[in-house]
Formats: sequence, C-alpha cells, structure tokens
Amino acid sequence: MRIFIGVAWPYANGVVHLGHVMGAYLPADIFARYNRMIGNDVLMVSGSDEHGTPVTITAEKEGKSPQEIVDRYHKINSEVMNKLGISFDLFYRTSHENHEKVVKEFFLKLLENGYLYEEEMLLPYCPKCHRFLPDRYVVGTCPYCGYENAHGDQCDNCGRTLDPKDLIEPRCAICNTPTEFRKSKHIFFALSKLEDRLISWIEEKDFWRDNVKRFTYQFLKSGLKDRAITRDINWGVEIPMEGYEDKRIYVWFDAVIGYLSASMEWARRNGKSWENYWKKEAKHFYFLGKDNIPFHTIIWPAMLMAHGDLNLPYNVVANEYLQFSGRKFSKSKKIGVWMPELLDNFEPDMIRFYGAVNMPEHRDFNFTWENFISTINETLVGKYANLVYRILSFAYRNFGEIPPRGDVDELDREALKMIMRTRKKMSEYIENVEFKKAIKEWLELVNFGNIYFTKKAPWTQCKENKEKCGTTINICLQMVQALAVFGAPFLPFSSEKVWKYLGNEDSIFEHQWNEGIKNLPAGRKLKEPEHLFHKIELEEERYEKWNQMDIRVARVKSVEDHPDAEKLYIVKLDLGDDERTVVAGLKKYYSREELEGREVLILYNLEPATLRGVKSHGMLLAGDDGERVALLKPMEDLKPGTKVMANGAEPAGEKTLKFKKFKKMKIEVVDIKENKAIGAEEYTLDFPLRDEWLGKQGVVFHDKKPLILHVGEVLIVPDKRITPGGQVR
Ligand code: MF3
Ligand code: ZN
Repeated sequence: MRIFIGVAWPYANGVVHLGHVMGAYLPADIFARYNRMIGNDVLMVSGSDEHGTPVTITAEKEGKSPQEIVDRYHKINSEVMNKLGISFDLFYRTSHENHEKVVKEFFLKLLENGYLYEEEMLLPYCPKCHRFLPDRYVVGTCPYCGYENAHGDQCDNCGRTLDPKDLIEPRCAICNTPTEFRKSKHIFFALSKLEDRLISWIEEKDFWRDNVKRFTYQFLKSGLKDRAITRDINWGVEIPMEGYEDKRIYVWFDAVIGYLSASMEWARRNGKSWENYWKKEAKHFYFLGKDNIPFHTIIWPAMLMAHGDLNLPYNVVANEYLQFSGRKFSKSKKIGVWMPELLDNFEPDMIRFYGAVNMPEHRDFNFTWENFISTINETLVGKYANLVYRILSFAYRNFGEIPPRGDVDELDREALKMIMRTRKKMSEYIENVEFKKAIKEWLELVNFGNIYFTKKAPWTQCKENKEKCGTTINICLQMVQALAVFGAPFLPFSSEKVWKYLGNEDSIFEHQWNEGIKNLPAGRKLKEPEHLFHKIELEEERYEKWNQMDIRVARVKSVEDHPDAEKLYIVKLDLGDDERTVVAGLKKYYSREELEGREVLILYNLEPATLRGVKSHGMLLAGDDGERVALLKPMEDLKPGTKVMANGAEPAGEKTLKFKKFKKMKIEVVDIKENKAIGAEEYTLDFPLRDEWLGKQGVVFHDKKPLILHVGEVLIVPDKRITPGGQVR
C-alpha cells in the first residue's frame, strides 16, 4: 500500500517545543516507521512555514528581516527533527522558489476552475501605523469564547477561524490603537460552492478521531463562507495577477500546498514520482495539533477538490495540547520546553518514550518535570533498559552466542505467546493511530520479561543445568528481539543498538516488523552489550535549604481588618484545591482593594502561628528595602496552588518549617542582567534565563549557590521596584 504522511509545518518564527513533538512529529514518525516496516511505500514530508504575519511580527520585534528569521529557525528546527530521528523524506520550506512556483500554479488552476474571484472588502487599518492589519496584526475579543487576544484570522483559545470583522473591540497588535476599517481589493476562495461535496465527504469519515470530528462539525455549523486568500502584506508568495503587486497570498493557503510542493521537490531531488502518491491510489494521513484541524479537514480538502485530480486526506490525526502547569504549551507565549534544550540534555529516545507514553491523544496532558524524570528513570531505564541489559550481559558472559532452545515448559510457552500477542495488539493499535495504547502493550511485554527472568533465575539454572539455562536465555533473547523490533518505531536509536548486541550486522530498519517473532539462529555470536541509558541524575541534594521550603501561588479572596491589631490584616487565600487564612502586617503598605483578587506568594509549609488571637497558616512573601514593601508574585497570573521553583527545582517541602529556621534563610530581591543577579552583591546565576526576564527584578534564594525563583517560564517578581538587595520576609 502507498501511504502519504503530511505533518503540520511549524512556523519558522521560533523553535519547536515538546508540545509540537508530542502533538504531531512523534506520532507521525511512529506511524511512518511502522508502515515502512510492514512493507508499505511511505512518503512523509513537512517543512518550515515561513510566510505570513507570525514571521513578520517576529522580524519586526527583533529588528531583522523576515528572511533572516526564517533562515535561523529553519536551520534550528531541521536539526531538531534530525536529532530526534523524525524520518522525514523531506523537511522543506515555503520560501523555496519551487514551492512558490507550485503555489502560483495551484492558484491559477483554481482561478481557471472558477473557484477564485475578486472582491472589495472592509479591513482593519491602523491610523497610527498607517497600514492594514492582516491576521496577527489585529487583536480583539473572540466573539465565540470571549478570549481577549484573538487574532484576525484565528482564536488561539477556542481554535475557531475568524474574520477580522468578527473581533470585538479590534485594536492594532503593535501599538494598541483601535482600528478603523478601510476598503481593499482581495481574492476570495469560493468555499461555499463546495459545501455539499465537503459535507458528504466528511460524513464518510466516521473513523476520524472524536476531537477531529467535533472541531470539523463545529466549523461546518456556522456555514461555509468564502474566504479571502490574499493579504495586504509584502512577505509571502506573490499573486500571479495584475493589480496585486503589493499583496501576497495568505499564509495558510500557501502552507498547505506545501504538502504537494514538498512531494514534488522530493521527487525532483531523488528522481522519483510524486504522482504515485497524489494521483494514484495512496492513503493520505495528516498529523497535527488540534488548532490546525479545520485547515486540514475543510480548507485543504476543499482546495484539493477545487483543483481536481489530486488525492484527498484519508485520515486527519490531531492531538490535544500539552499543558505546562495548567497552561498550554505555546512558543508564541514562551511557555514550555524547547526541543534544542531538551536534546542537549536528554537522549532522543528518552524524549520519544516520554512523548509516546503520555501522548495527548484524547485529552490534554500536563507536563511536569517530576513526571518526565520518573517516567524515564522508573520505566524506560528501570524496567526496559535494565531488563535488556540483564539479559544481554548474562547471555554474553555465559554463552557468548545465542544458545539453542531445548524442551520448553509452561512459562516458556507463555513467553512465546506474549511475543505473538504483543505483535498483534501493537499492530492493531498503531494502524488505528493509537500510539499510546501501542506502547503500553510493549510495556506489558517488558513487565512480563522481568517476571520471567526473575522466576526462571537463570543464574541458579546455569549452575545446575546449563542446557536448561540455555533454553531460558534463548527465550529471553527472543523477547529482547521482539522488544527491539516492535519498539523500533518508538525508540529507533536504542532499538538499533539492541539489534547490534543481538549479533546483527545490518540495520534493524532494513527488516520487517514480522521478524520480531522470527526464531533466533542458535550459535550466532553476540556482541558485548552496554547500558542503553543512564538514569537522569537529580540535582536535589544540592538544594538542601530550598528543599525545606514550599512556596505557592495564591489568590487573595478577601481581606479583613484584624479586630485586635492595628497593623494587621486577616487575609483569606484561594490555593486551587485548598484555602488558607494568614495574618499579614501589610496595612501600612496596601489597601484592602489593592489586595483583593491579586496573586501573591505564600510560604505554605510555615508552622502555623497565632497572632493576637488569630491563627495564621503560612505567610505572604514580600521584599522590603527598609522603605518600600513589595509583595512577590508571578510575572503572569498562574493557577492558584502552583508551586514555585528555584533553578527549575520544585522543593520537597513536606515538613513544616519552623519560623526560626525560615529566618535563617536568605532571600533577596535582585536586578537581573544577562546571567547576573545584582542584589547586596553581584551573583552569577547558573540557570538559563529567558530573554524576557532580563532587565526585570527577580528574587534569589541563597542555597549553596544563588537560585532564581520562577515557575516554568514565568519569573517571580516584586510587584514594584525596590532597592536591589531588599530582603524577603
Ligand atoms: N504553521 C502552522 C502552525 O504552526 C501549521 C501549518 S500546517 C500546514 O500552526 F500544513 F499548513 F503547513
Ligand atoms: Zn498600530
């Protein structure tokens, strides 16, 4: 069977993060590798989405040209794909001249077929910047979900595509001026003409995932309106028509055609046929995050219908989001875990394993470092790598080659059955694009292997009956082979290693999935194995003092005067799952109105104390320079209850902290400059600081070294400037 796999093109205005990987590239790659291994003819492409306002806005902000921006990120992101082992046949880019040619031809074909027309429209215009405001240059409130920072073309919160006219209180994204509406001539795509055809086509797709159907029907419900596919912008594919010299094709119209242009470019570079995939029988699979659904289930299919004689999508596989402490992973909002950083610190298969086990297939998944580390240390290393190493090193030391299989007993037969079962189940799941379930099956085999090895205790067998021990090891090695082959789409790098340890000379990817059950040839020499992975080492013990702390984000619910103390407030706090009452000496510095509703930080595990007859459970943290007092808070609002980190480490903070001990801790407000913090002295910070933290005031906790307080990408700051060096109390 021929299979085309298209993976959503990342915008070349930033580096890809783990959310992209788990949402699209990894599932696509697992699917591609599996299909190649069962003998299907696979073409998988993607590339950098280099046009449109996402890129021009970044360029403007950085004072660079759009080309410089896309060159930079295309390079970084291509490297990420490579290092992570995403086996694209081509990772292309939309600023390539051949892509632009294909887009123009596509455009002209639609024009010829009567699906494009010209029309004047009213568009948002910024009187201060003197320009039209396409897509991301205009922001306003989403009419559907009320999100306040929706763009002119799409709401990032509810995912709906928008028309700038729909926005409530539209304003210029650059200077915040309310927009005017002015006339401009544009080209429209007659989506409405295709409504009936699209609906009946979609109705056949009852096997699509629920979320994909849901988003698609929601889009259809509001009726298919014709859409402008050109913009008042000067960065993008030129419009092959007179009178449009100062306009460009809309980035989405251009990007989806990338699937076709990349196939053509791949064919051209390799002397292959792209028509085989686009004009002959081939199943088209698309992998993407949920915000891209309507573009792949409606717009792109409609464009293909209007074009004629090209294959339509077969399945559109969209994942939910990866959340980071309750917030969506998004590179535009700079929250998350960036792939270049991750790949510098972890083996690609570690990242892939974590991604597969937690793939947000049906619901959002919340990323935490704790979970990341424990998934890798306990499961991948503790269970899988450990089992493989125990078996391989035992076999290598005691036999040096694959021992023959003698008489088998009940447990041996069960092991062989498990191998068969794993193959069957994993195949079913992968073909059904359920990768998380597939890797869970694989883990079942790992678990079984551990039980088998322990029960058989080959180390005692070996002393008593070497032949019997040989049978055990033969079956163990069968399991190792099965794990390597069935695990190969998920963990390509370590599977390849295991394959070599089993005495193979070639690549595992030259072999078929079914060979995972093939009997190993007795007598084949084994290679000396090494550990597949090492556990991720925690730096915990370095942060001895920090580990005694437990600081959390809280929201002030209400403030009352203390009945018996002039300077004190009684403050009720919302902590998400929890509530707290604290007594705070803030009356001199903050009015009740100033406090109510705002976010603060609470020292959560401080020993409760009674202050003039009222019990205080914890303490609000503020910086004090002797003159001013500034409450600490996260730079952006976070979910109440979120724990504060120091240099990336969440504290254990299980025990209550005595006030006497807390008084010995040194915490101070600092100015942040590059990797330096300037407080009472100048400290070098040994932690990657985000660009947007520079020039701000932050908070340093003094452990064996100075640690900066933050929550993920969000810095902890005083709510107003105080003299650096001011103590936190
Ligand atoms: N660049 C878009 C995004 O990141 C996705 C484009 S998918 C494509 O949301 F197929 F149109 F390229
Ligand atoms: Zn403006």
